[in-house]
Amino acid sequence: MNRYLKIDPWRIVEETFDPGKNRISESLFSLGNGRMGQRGNFEEQYSGDTLRGTYIGGVYYPDKTKVGWWKVGYPEYYAKVLNAPYWIGLNIDFNGKPLDLASCKILGFNRILNMKEGYLERSFRVEIDGAGIIEAEVRRFISISDTEVGAVRYSLIPVNFSGTLTVSAYLDGDVKNEDANYNEKFWEEAGMHIKESRAILISKTKKLDYQVSTGMEMKIFRNGIETELHCLTEKRKKYAACKASVLFNQDDQITIYKYAAILSSLNHPADQLMKNTHQVLDNAVGKGFDRLMADQADAWSEKWKKSDIVISGDDAAQQGIRFNIFQLNQTYTGEDERLNIGPKGFTGEKYGGSTYWDTEAFCLPFYLCSADQKVARALLMYRYKHLSKAIENAEKLGFTNGAALYPMVTMNGEECHNEWEITFEEIHRNGAIAYAIFNYVRHSDDRGYLADYGLEVLIAISRFWSQRTSWSEIKKQFVILGVTGPNEYENNVNNNWYTNRFAGWTLKYTIEVMNFVRDNYPEKHKLVLKKLKFKESEIKRWEQIIHHMYFPYDEQLGLFLQQEGYMDKEQKLVSELDSRERPLNQKWSWDRILRSCFIKQADVLQGMYFFEDDFDDEVLAKHFSFYESRTVHESSLSACIHSVMASRIGEQQKAYELYLRTARLDLDDYNNEADQGCHITSMAGTWLAIVEGFGGKRIKNGKLSFNPAIPEKWTSYSFKIHFRGVLLDINVTRDEVKIKNNADKAVHVILYGEEYSVNGKQELILVTAPD
Ligand code: BGC
Repeated sequence: MNRYLKIDPWRIVEETFDPGKNRISESLFSLGNGRMGQRGNFEEQYSGDTLRGTYIGGVYYPDKTKVGWWKVGYPEYYAKVLNAPYWIGLNIDFNGKPLDLASCKILGFNRILNMKEGYLERSFRVEIDGAGIIEAEVRRFISISDTEVGAVRYSLIPVNFSGTLTVSAYLDGDVKNEDANYNEKFWEEAGMHIKESRAILISKTKKLDYQVSTGMEMKIFRNGIETELHCLTEKRKKYAACKASVLFNQDDQITIYKYAAILSSLNHPADQLMKNTHQVLDNAVGKGFDRLMADQADAWSEKWKKSDIVISGDDAAQQGIRFNIFQLNQTYTGEDERLNIGPKGFTGEKYGGSTYWDTEAFCLPFYLCSADQKVARALLMYRYKHLSKAIENAEKLGFTNGAALYPMVTMNGEECHNEWEITFEEIHRNGAIAYAIFNYVRHSDDRGYLADYGLEVLIAISRFWSQRTSWSEIKKQFVILGVTGPNEYENNVNNNWYTNRFAGWTLKYTIEVMNFVRDNYPEKHKLVLKKLKFKESEIKRWEQIIHHMYFPYDEQLGLFLQQEGYMDKEQKLVSELDSRERPLNQKWSWDRILRSCFIKQADVLQGMYFFEDDFDDEVLAKHFSFYESRTVHESSLSACIHSVMASRIGEQQKAYELYLRTARLDLDDYNNEADQGCHITSMAGTWLAIVEGFGGKRIKNGKLSFNPAIPEKWTSYSFKIHFRGVLLDINVTRDEVKIKNNADKAVHVILYGEEYSVNGKQELILVTAPD
């Protein structure tokens, strides 16, 4: 653990500047608005270690792959979210001496992420060698109401000297991805406008022809009065700057405003980008910083009304969950069905900004409960729109008849990851995509979705399972060979219980949905079946698979086995491992990991999490105890699911311990890797640990159900659930549970197994403490 930030309920606060931690802070202090994001970099020049990062959702690059042995079926490229033109930059000199925190003497420093209103603030007092002492206050945000706008306000006071301040506000398109496979640069210049204090740079990707237009306008005020700027313009390839000088006296306050517009050809015709950028800039400058900032605060207040979790009695936990919710809301807003949630969001380059099964398996529940229904629906539509690519992907691997294998890692629906054990073998992702449809519909009751889109996806996935399953003459059962389950510390195993379970479940669910659509939307049913050239005989095979699927089971232990042969492994417990051997993925050879019984992340338990109603308490507890004690939790997605399961079986202490491992994963840099970006998708897991874990939120027969418990350290906690047009506040203390219905209509809820009706604008109070 590496806690250096101050605990505060609404803010992330760094009180001293440690250059060694700068990259971590840059990740943690990232800003985003669902459409784009920016790491917490400094605006002024900084010659120390930094990863400057600007990312625009959906603008990626098909980087050339790097593999040892090429395998047929591998994707041709590895997609990378692009580090995009840098818009925040201001090079600032006082009397010719640069303001650079790597070379100045730092007398005071604060970096604050204000999560309530959605901005980043920095204040510092430094001595610039050869100039004097200055004080600075900087605020920056990326607007979530004007989603193509970002703005910086940079105020400076020279404390003990007078002279000339020179500021060069620039746009830099000469940027590079740190993770580029061959150290290549991916951008070319495609246009530039520069005049007085305004510049626009149009950059184009070397492949795929994405265009990004980055515009800026600078304004400078001296003691509150706008100064007339006589800017020198600086132009070089992929770089445009407007440079101005201002005379100042000691104690003058000089405030630089930099308004930015970031547009892309995803949303504008390429030939209109320049004109539209001028327009967005005109609007932003016209509104002014304060008005833009006020809109930002209002927009964030709306987000918090729908998604906040309040914890009393544990400030570190409060800050942790708010940070997670803030980052999730910054990463995805559901405004654009082409976008999704990269495991690092907009906070770093790792995982290439691509979409993983993380979205459906971990993130969807957060957006289902914490935002309008259309947000979660947009996540489903993303996969619907990628269906034809998923079918092509399966065809490349030899599947036929419209079978779909969704990619493990994708930007545009094509697979873009090529490690065979993941690309070809982690086919369980198809299950999570089918489950997301089930999860969305049971939450929203939007059954029309099944007829309009869901059924097509389910049939295509079922066709895949049907072909990927084979008959074993020896077992007289269906088997699925050569897979990697969620536990990536085992590859090429036969009959991974989780995968087999998902295959059977998907086939069964697809038949149910097909019957439902036939009975309720007969026209649609005909149309879909015709479009997909569906034959009744397909169902026959599906039914055979459903009834004769093989599930590895150890009779003696009474346990479902993670895969066939799991018990052949030398059985050891994580508690027997020497702490110096952890994390295994850094200390052990891959070969040793594969041979060991140790598990990276929930696998059987991940399946029991999804299908808990099919198992009784005793079975769940038995499997939890067996598998958790062999799990090293070396994926950030592991502890959260185990925490939910521990809550489910009443192991409160264990649930809390596991929750702690996820709650402040990045804030306390548990895994020593926050410098590469935040674990955005695992943040949704933390939310799960509270809402589904401690709160026991479920949907039972179309009704919301809760079974709340409260961690010992907390005095109360509350969370919000959007459910079918109703917003509920659930408040849990040691003595009572309150459920407030904020809507006008009544809602039925189940609390500790009893059903209650809560009228519109009413509160249900249940005393839980014994008299
Ligand atoms: C996990 C995967 C996950 C990926 C991206 C890996 O470490 O094992 O389950 O999809 O990270 O978060």
